[in-house]
This record gives sequence, structure tokens and C-alpha cells, in this order.
Amino acid sequence: MEKKELFALLSQMTLAEKIGQLVQLTPNFFAEVAAEGEITGPLAELGITKEELYTLGSVLGTHTKEEVYALQKNYLAHSRLKIPLVFMADVIHGYETIFPIPLALGASFDPAVAEEVASLSGAEASAAGVHVTFSPMVDLVRDPRWGRVLESTGEDSYLNSLMATAFVKGYQGTAGELATNFRKIAACVKHFAGYGAAEGGRDYNTVDLSDWNLYQNYLPAFQAAVTAGVKLVMTSFNVLKGIPSTANKWLLQDVLRQDLGFEGVVISDWGAVRELVTHRVAEDLSAAAQRAFTAGCTMDMMSSAYIKYLGNLVTTGVVAETDIDAAVLQVLTLKNDLGLFADPYRGLTTAGALGVKEEVLRKASRQAAAKSMVLLKNDEDILPLTTGQKVAVVGPFAASQDILGAWSWIGQKAAAVSLAAGLQATDLAVTVVPTVDRLAYTPKEVDAMLAAAAACDVVVVALGESASESGEATSKGQPSLPATQVALLQKIAAVNEKVVTVLFNGRPLLLADILLATKGLVEAFFPGSEGGHALADILTGKVAPSAKLPMSYPATLGQIPLHYDELSTGRPLTEDYAGGGYVSFYLDQPNAPLFPFGYGLTYGQLEVADVTFPATMSHQLPVTVTLHNPGVKAVTETLQVYLEDLVGEVALPKRSLKHLQKVTVAPGTSEKIELTLTKDDLAYVHAELSTAADPGDFKLYVGFDSQCPAYGTFRLVEG
Ligand code: BGC
Repeated sequence: MEKKELFALLSQMTLAEKIGQLVQLTPNFFAEVAAEGEITGPLAELGITKEELYTLGSVLGTHTKEEVYALQKNYLAHSRLKIPLVFMADVIHGYETIFPIPLALGASFDPAVAEEVASLSGAEASAAGVHVTFSPMVDLVRDPRWGRVLESTGEDSYLNSLMATAFVKGYQGTAGELATNFRKIAACVKHFAGYGAAEGGRDYNTVDLSDWNLYQNYLPAFQAAVTAGVKLVMTSFNVLKGIPSTANKWLLQDVLRQDLGFEGVVISDWGAVRELVTHRVAEDLSAAAQRAFTAGCTMDMMSSAYIKYLGNLVTTGVVAETDIDAAVLQVLTLKNDLGLFADPYRGLTTAGALGVKEEVLRKASRQAAAKSMVLLKNDEDILPLTTGQKVAVVGPFAASQDILGAWSWIGQKAAAVSLAAGLQATDLAVTVVPTVDRLAYTPKEVDAMLAAAAACDVVVVALGESASESGEATSKGQPSLPATQVALLQKIAAVNEKVVTVLFNGRPLLLADILLATKGLVEAFFPGSEGGHALADILTGKVAPSAKLPMSYPATLGQIPLHYDELSTGRPLTEDYAGGGYVSFYLDQPNAPLFPFGYGLTYGQLEVADVTFPATMSHQLPVTVTLHNPGVKAVTETLQVYLEDLVGEVALPKRSLKHLQKVTVAPGTSEKIELTLTKDDLAYVHAELSTAADPGDFKLYVGFDSQCPAYGTFRLVEG
């Protein structure tokens, strides 16, 4: 449709029909109506009538294409203007075929991986009738107590921005593609804003960020998604500057519309408009509707506030109908951009128009998982395992298929490849002794595990959290492995010290107490449907590990929240001060993380042989890095470049990631990598919130994690 046709459609709509477009409910509301029965369930609870139902704009959380087809058909048959419903769902890391969790995709340090995952999972979801996904989540995370770190790509705004762009491109394709390529789905970036900074790491809890922190660290990934053309933004549950995001005019208008330049649909999180009453910033649902709508929240997800009260607010002159029109136009534009007016079924009725072959999805899932697993320790080169080795696979996750992680609601655990199954498909001699429970083991199980461990060359011990322990509403005061798992590992190490631990989990865990008991340590996160195969690839060296930690792994609980790019303090802990004094340190624990951001080993090692760059720059700084591979096998590493701005108007991070790149160097050779830093890479947020680079000196760090060494300074000059 042309824009003027959308206006024409709008002009035919009654006020009730307009408001209906701003509301989203789950499919069960329609199912009741379709059955024409007594209304006793959800419809009655929210007080929604049948007439209102057939004005609604959107449905969330359908499962199958048959369901979507039937709902759309029923809706179009009953609604006066036949404006198609838009179907949205949480396709977070796969639809039926599950890919690694977003935190793991962050660990790939490879935006191409995220883009492919988004593209394939979007295509699979499109075949089930999904038009919009509530992804990517780009919340910056610094606190592993918060279970939703699983849904983020980590603690660094640069990495998150690269990943945000990649996800949006993967889901939506190129500008305008959504209208005709129904394998593409629209993306909704979330949760706007600051949700990851909940006090105490407790989900939904208060957030109190300075504007400077918000702009410097939390907004860049949202900006990246907006620049990439993301169609929707979801508000967050938390308060920011004392006002819940869903009613936060400053956030939704000044920041989102004006500063970030977003023009699409803003949707509340689930029930968040209603929760304004629980937050005690609105005395009833009518006030909640007024606050959310006038703040700039276009759509109300799963509450009856808009449908019940916006009409009255307009007729009493509290809300202007022109504002309703503007919001409705955003929704109609989204539907038009998705091609729904041309085909309300978005290809569902056209044979072969949608979907992806299962083998393609499976292969991609396996590759993405292998690229997302971080090798944290490899003493005595215990890995890779070698052909014919006798390997015992033991522990609560040895044969577990609970490896999909949260937000894999359509994915089938039964279709997931366990670690044991993956290793059994290799040429290793594998003995599997799983435990039934994740927390407690029978003496018989322990004896069997110890016997297998003693009889084998290497023991792979599979530990971790169940999928239900991370994700929404899964905060933990103590993000560690259960004591029973630690004790089990120690017992096993006592009978055979050749131990490799594999971790399945959704958040950085406190790992200090298992490090001594294991020679090898692989962070597998929740790797998805092909997890076991991918792990077998990594453990046997068929694929060398190449992933890096997207969050700092704390050495102690007390260090949390923790992030590598902390600001310089007036009393830093330097080597001269080590051991005491009035500096920023703990009496009883180190400042440094157990494993820093960006850390991850591979098989083999590269050396930074040379780094050269000019002494000054005005717009661009060409940097040449020579990497040498002294080994006998090709090595793929993630080159990371960090900058430290030596003097700023505000106190600045000790260093910030500015460039990352996968590099492969053949054995015994050197590779010259040319990269360019730009003036934009030197910019930071100033006190009055403008972003700019100041002339002055910068220190450049190069290497393979966030603790890499400096290679000199350069000066930014006016030019
Ligand atoms: C979550 C969102 C999600 C929404 C819809 C909420 O509880 O916070 O991330 O997209 O539900 O399922």
C-alpha cells in the first residue's frame, strides 16, 4: 500500500477500531471466541468483549502455521475493515531447531554467526506464521546474578552493537525486503532501557543509572539496532530515573525518538502497562493507559488498559485523537512493511514459499555452537582428545538433553544431541556414566563414575545448571555450581587427574573452586539442539575453539557487578600500591576477575610480533598488526584492539574494545593484518551527553583478551 492508502484506511476507522490496533493478546483469547462458547476464561478476566476482540491488532505466542492460519481467517471473517493481525513471538535463539543462547552467540565474537542464526531461525519461524520476533535483546549486562544475562550478548557496548546490527540484518534482511520475502521477519529490540542494571541482580528490580552511563554504555546497541532499521522497540519492566520505562516520556520520546531517531512501533513488555499500577505510579488502569500512551508506548501487550480506557480518555479530551492516529499509523505501517495487506497469510498458503530444510538448520546450529564454546583452561594440552583414547563421560549433564536453554519453547529437548551422544559418534572409546539428578548422586552412581574414571585415559565431567535456572525471573544470590557438583568433581580428580570439565549454563558462574580439580575447562553455555555434536567437534579438535568470554567471570561473589571497562578512579590499585594503602581494593579478595572479558584459548597460540601505527591522526589511524604462528597447526584467533583515552572531560574507562576480527595464521608463518580506526572510534559521551572525540593522546592495546598489552600511544589532532 502507498502511504496515502494507509491514511485512507485510517480515516475509515472508528475510534474503537483504532484503539484495537494498539493492543496485543495471546491466541487463547481468540480460541474461546472461535469455539463460540461461554466466556469464562481470559476474555472474562480482562473484561474484553467479542466486539473488542475483532478490532485487535496483534497476537503473540502462536505455535503452528495451522493455528495462525485459522486465527487470521476467523479474524478477517469477523472484523469490519479486515486489517490483518500481526503475529509476534519470542524467537530468541531458534524456533524448533535451537541455536546457542544469545550469551553464547556473543561469545562467538563473530557477528556473522549471529546474523546467520537470526536469518535461519527467522526463516524457520516464518513457516510457522511468525511475523515479528521479540529479539534481539541488547541489554548490557554486568551482573551474573541476573538470570537474563543469558539473553544478552554481554557486558561490552561495542560487541553488543555489532551483534545488534547482525541480528536485525539477519531477521529483516535488506531495507524493504520484509514486504516481499516472507522468510524474513521483523525484529523488536528490547528491553528499553537499562533493564540489565537491576539493583542486586534481582529481576524487575529498580534501576538507577546516570544519564552519562546510559548514553555511554547502555544505548549504543539500541542505536545500532535503530540504525539497522529495526521495526519495533520493547519497553523494559524497570524504572529509570524513578519512572517505569513504559511511562517514561523522557526515555520514549526525547531519547528514543529524538536522539536515537526511532520511527517504528514501541510495544510494552508483557503486562507492563498494567504494572504501572503495581509500581504505584498510576492509581488505576485508566491512569496507567494515559501515562503509558502519552509517554509514547504505541502498543499494550497483554493488558486491558488501552482497550478499556483509551477510548474514554479520548472522548473526555485527556488524550488527543491525533495522537491515537499517529500511533495507529505506526502499526499499519508495520503491517504494510511486512506485506500483510497484500497477503495476510504471509506465504503460508503458497506451497514452498517458506521454511528451511532441517539438515541446513541442524548443520548451522552445530557450527554456531562450536563457534560459541569457550576453552577456559587447557593445562598440559589435555585437549584435544586423540583418536582411540579411552574417555569416561560422567556427571549430571553427561547424557542430559536439557541443553537448549531458556526461550526454547518450541524446541524439543528429546531432539537435542547430548554430550554423550556427540562423543559416541566419534572414534573415541567412550564409557558414559550419567547421573539421574543434577544435585544429588546415589552411592551406586558415584562408585560407577569413579570406576569409569579410574579405568579411562581421560574423564570428561559434565556439570552445570538446568535450563530453568537462567532466563527471566531466575536471579541467584550465589551464581555458583551446586556444592554437590564441586564435590563430585573433586572425587573424580582424586582417582584420575586427567579431567576435562564441560559446563552447561546460562550465566558466568563462580568457578574458582573447581579450577584446581580440572586440567581442561570448556564453557559450552546452553549450546542448543546440536550441542553434543558441537562439543565433540571441539573436544576432538575437529573444530578448534575460537570463542571469547562476553562477560568477565568473577573470582568471588563480592566482585559483582564486574566489567573490564571500569572507570579510572582517583586511587587505582597499581603494582606500586599492591598490598595495601588507601586505594580502590578489597582487603579480602582480588580486584581482578578469574577470567577477563574477551578471554578464551584455542589449540595453539599466536604471538603479536609487531604493531605499527602513525604517531598522529586526524580522521583515520591505519594500524598494522603482525601475528606469528610458531606452531605446527593453523590457528584461528580473535584479534582485539582496545583504546585508552588518556585524558577526557569525564572519567573514562581504563580501556574500551574498538575492533575485533577473526584471523587465521598458517603454521610457521606470519600474517600482517591491516585495520583502520576512525575518529568515531575515539568518541565518548561528554558531560552534557554529546558524543565526540577530543584531541589528545590515546594508548593502543592489542592482543587476544581485555588484558592484552599496550603498544604505544598516538595523538588525535584537529584536522
Ligand atoms: C519478557 C519479554 C518477552 C515477553 C513476551 C516478557 O515477560 O520480559 O522479553 O518478549 O515476555 O513473551
